[in-house]
Amino acid sequence: MGLVDVRRDDNIAVITIDNPPVNALNNAVRTGLIDALALARDRAGIRAVVLACAGRTFVAGADITEFGKPSKPPSTTDVVTALDAMPKPVVAALHGTALGGGLEVALGCHFRVAAPTTRLGLPEIKLGLIPGAGGTQRLPRLIGMAKALPMILSGDPIGAKPALEAGLVDAIVDGDVTAGAIAFARRLVANKTPLRRARDLDAKLADMRADRARFDELVAAHGKRSRGLHAPIAAIEALRAAIDLPIDQGLELERSKFIELKDGEQSKAQRHIFFAERAAAKIGGLPKDAKAREIKHAAVIGAGTMGGGIAMCFANAGIPVTIVEASKEALARGLDVIAKNYSTSVKRGSLSAADMERRNGLMQGSTDFASVADADIVIEAVFEEMEIKKRVFSALDLLAAKTTILASNTSYLDIDAIGAVTQRPSAVLGTHFFSPANVMRLLEIVRGKATAPEVLAATVALGRRLGKIPVVVGNRHGFVGNRMLGARSIEAERLLLEGALPHEVDGALVQFGFPMGPFAMADLAGLDVGWRNRKSQGLRAEIADALCEAGHYGQKTGKGFYRYEAGARTPLPDSDTESLIVAASRRLGLTRRSIDKKEIVERLIFPMINEGARILDEKIAQRPGDIDVIWVYGYGFPVWRGGPMFYADGLGLSYIRDRLSALSRESNDKRHEPAALLAKLAAAGEGFGSLEAKASA
Ligand code: 3HC
Ligand code: NAI
Repeated sequence: MGLVDVRRDDNIAVITIDNPPVNALNNAVRTGLIDALALARDRAGIRAVVLACAGRTFVAGADITEFGKPSKPPSTTDVVTALDAMPKPVVAALHGTALGGGLEVALGCHFRVAAPTTRLGLPEIKLGLIPGAGGTQRLPRLIGMAKALPMILSGDPIGAKPALEAGLVDAIVDGDVTAGAIAFARRLVANKTPLRRARDLDAKLADMRADRARFDELVAAHGKRSRGLHAPIAAIEALRAAIDLPIDQGLELERSKFIELKDGEQSKAQRHIFFAERAAAKIGGLPKDAKAREIKHAAVIGAGTMGGGIAMCFANAGIPVTIVEASKEALARGLDVIAKNYSTSVKRGSLSAADMERRNGLMQGSTDFASVADADIVIEAVFEEMEIKKRVFSALDLLAAKTTILASNTSYLDIDAIGAVTQRPSAVLGTHFFSPANVMRLLEIVRGKATAPEVLAATVALGRRLGKIPVVVGNRHGFVGNRMLGARSIEAERLLLEGALPHEVDGALVQFGFPMGPFAMADLAGLDVGWRNRKSQGLRAEIADALCEAGHYGQKTGKGFYRYEAGARTPLPDSDTESLIVAASRRLGLTRRSIDKKEIVERLIFPMINEGARILDEKIAQRPGDIDVIWVYGYGFPVWRGGPMFYADGLGLSYIRDRLSALSRESNDKRHEPAALLAKLAAAGEGFGSLEAKASA
């Protein structure tokens, strides 16, 4: 069979798409569908059509890999138009994930039936796009604007049950969904049910047409997360057209906006991140389907900021977890924070009381290390001090079952040195969560020199189960993310000494697209963390250390680079800190000057890129895309710029090399000299992306 097969079931034509893994609508599928529909239309004995998919899912969207290439007809729009024009009823049989162009094809069908576990959505916005085959026009006509707009602006799918309630699907069928759809089609034929084309429906838009202000209210309620992004603005315009224009004009407007976005820089960057995210968890030398041991029970050591959040990740994923603390008081404090976090979610309405109970019920506290005996994985999140970590790992090695994976949440420390105190270094690795651990999606998985591939595979699989984006990295001080952050911090401090103030530095990065700048972030994380790390390495940061020495650790003490009013988190410029900065400049004999935003951004981002190049050269990151994923999901690098390495390629590496050389000369800091790999690629006129292309060739 080809990618699209047609068979007859009495007087029903069953068209089946079979294009694993996700039945993406590539050119061959689109062509096959056009031909199959023509056949079903013209064959006299055929009274109705069922459109189904083989494998794990209905069509999960257009084939994203085709977006960078010249488009070849027929388009997905042509397929939807052909469906719309069918004179015989067409029923879509949905299972798995009906997403993007897949849902748009289903919307072109006259009826939709779904398996109970189906998820339906238009996730284009997450790729910097809008639906391009009628989604913005047909979905509101079918389910009303109040339901369609949030689906399109969030990109989040909905389940079969809410889809049935909204009118997006006409029936939910148990058992084989294709058989259910055939039975549904037979009933349509028997009852001579008229065709129901989404394009012709109007009733659910009447309220918005009568009162346009309601559309603006809806936009105000759902359109807030769009800082710097083009796609949400285009989506809102296209949705407004569904109210204001006849459908064919609305479709035309949608199409032109889709093409503009598809060819634009933002979507290219977001598509890069989509594929980089999937590549990042692939471990060199390990077969993709290697059997990973399942984690049925976990333990977390330390119920502080990170331990508590990590324990919540397990409970949220339905995995029982034991939390072990050094003292009863610390345990009670940690469990209390967790309980408060959950009850805040219940108060906000994002968690049901029953789910809170279930999650609390999956957690157990203990002050006895022996309670790790049942765990398949233990994650250590105690203080960041090598001697303490070694003591904890020696104890765990004695008390945990022989096959238990022992992981450390260390931010910087040497995983091999930690593993060396155990009898099982092959079962030791790093699981570096980001704060707040129950929210941030990134998980750096640190591979020690002895870590066994199946231990890595099990931890990557666990990361996915916890809803994280796992990236496998090598073992080197600070791994990938924090090491690059260190490179940025050097210049952030220098900018202060040369004339900028914290809010000016932060403002430049926020304008670049970060949710917050380095100083607001340092205040949030606690300045003492970096201070302790610098002290352990014999390093000094003029301003940050002076603040710490004065007892100003950031938000937790109400004062740091900024000041904070009691109970508030908004950073306010602080005249004491500013005087401290000016005094430090004077002490060092520096004449303060005004520094523009472009210089600030370059001096913060280029040293990070330089460090990223060294990280690649040392094979601490497997691919440039891994670094991009780490920065987008762990540190808020704007996704629409594609991460630091992708951004670097867009600027051109020779420009960055020249700026770094100048920076190194001016600051007399050899760390800013262009890294060998960066210089080599720049000289060859290539970018970091060429490394990925070579690796996959
Ligand atoms: N095009 C091309 N390849 C795709 C794809 C797509 N739309 N969706 C998934 N894939 C590939 C992945 O890259 C991956 O390849 P790999 O094995 O070589 O790494 C493979 O399919 C499996 O994907 P996942 O690892 O993500 O599998 P999961 O089971 O975890 O998730 C999924 C499945 C929910 C379908 C997820 O892949 C997904 O969200 N896909 C993207 C869906 C999407 O964004 N669709 C809209 C596309 S844009 C569009 O349709 C435009 C239209 O409006 C005209
Ligand atoms: P924290 O100080 O909030 O919590 C540490 C907890 O460990 C305390 O509750 C303490 O009582 C407990 N503890 C200490 N020794 C113990 C022992 N021997 N047995 C059992 N419990 C013990 O520290 P935080 O911030 O949670 O950091 C923990 C680890 O996570 C560190 O390695 C840190 O570098 C890392 N990390 C921290 C991040 C952050 O943003 N705070 C981000 C990512 C990693």
